[in-house]
Amino acid sequence: MAYSDKVLDHYDNPRNVGSMAADDDGVGTGMVGAPACGDVMKLQIKVNAQGVIEDAKFKTYGCGSAIASSSLVTEWVKGKTLDEALAIKNTDIAEELALPPVKIHCSILAEDAIKAAVADFRAKQDGAAACPSVEV
Ligand code: FES
Ligand code: FES
Repeated sequence: MAYSDKVLDHYDNPRNVGSMAADDDGVGTGMVGAPACGDVMKLQIKVNAQGVIEDAKFKTYGCGSAIASSSLVTEWVKGKTLDEALAIKNTDIAEELALPPVKIHCSILAEDAIKAAVADFRAKQDGAAACPSVEV
């Protein structure tokens, strides 16, 4: 099975590899795994006061398609609101990267990682609202 040029490009030159402080209230962290293959993807988003994602980082221990999918979504989510980011579908990722059917689950991992990162960020905001006086 041959990887598409776009997969190879993201695999050879992954965008936005790295980590952000997971305990930063402005950062949402999504960590997801694919039961089928054991690959793991961590996606982090940094959200500004306007609710716009201004930065994203990923670390993926997985196949080339999973790395390419996570690299691509870090580019796609930047500048988007949380709801816009949640609208990214794995089918969009698979189409952009021309993933074959056997690699569709790699793009699902990336969609799930976005959802998990947004959920983590939102849970932090809810926690802050519920506990305004908590000191750490
Ligand atoms: Fe499992 Fe790609 S083969 S994430
Ligand atoms: Fe959060 Fe009391 S439960 S401050």
